[in-house]
Amino acid sequence: MKLVILLALAIALSSCSKPVEDTRPGQPVKTRQTAFKEMLRVFEPMGTMLRDGKYNAAKFEALAAELIARRNDPWGHFGADTNYPPTKARPEVWTRQGEFEKAREAFFRSSDVLLIAARTKELKTVSDAYARAYDACHSCHQEFKQK
Ligand code: HEC
Repeated sequence: MKLVILLALAIALSSCSKPVEDTRPGQPVKTRQTAFKEMLRVFEPMGTMLRDGKYNAAKFEALAAELIARRNDPWGHFGADTNYPPTKARPEVWTRQGEFEKAREAFFRSSDVLLIAARTKELKTVSDAYARAYDACHSCHQEFKQK
């Protein structure tokens, strides 16, 4: 009896600590999550620079250009049957595709504006454009990504 309880506990613990693997061919969920992480890896240092009062115009412009180079990567991996663990996407991605597409386009526009702003090298222009791009990421997450 005790052994059964211990075994059950061990199984519960191991299933809790083990992250869910994306075992599907081509790993669409993992691939898009990695693509988003790569965007964050480029986007975050721009915000840190502004917050810490260490705006470097050349570095900022290079990062803004890199964001544009990477911004296409996630979207092709949201195929019709790809709402499964470990996704953090909400079902609205698939039930409200028009809105999801609009949110993606708004993000593309805001990242275009960010690069144009970066080229002005004016801190105020750059900060405003960064805040708009941040909102574009954030508002899509509000609607289409689990917390
Ligand atoms: C049009 C909607 C949309 C926009 C715009 C968007 N995201 Fe996301 N993002 C998502 C969705 C949906 C997921 C969940 C993907 C999944 O888990 O399948 C996600 C997931 C993520 C993740 C988590 C990845 C993981 O490993 O779980 C990060 C980080 C992220 N996004 C960063 C960003 C950044 C930074 C921006 C803006 C520069 C951005 N996203 C713009 C929809 C969006």
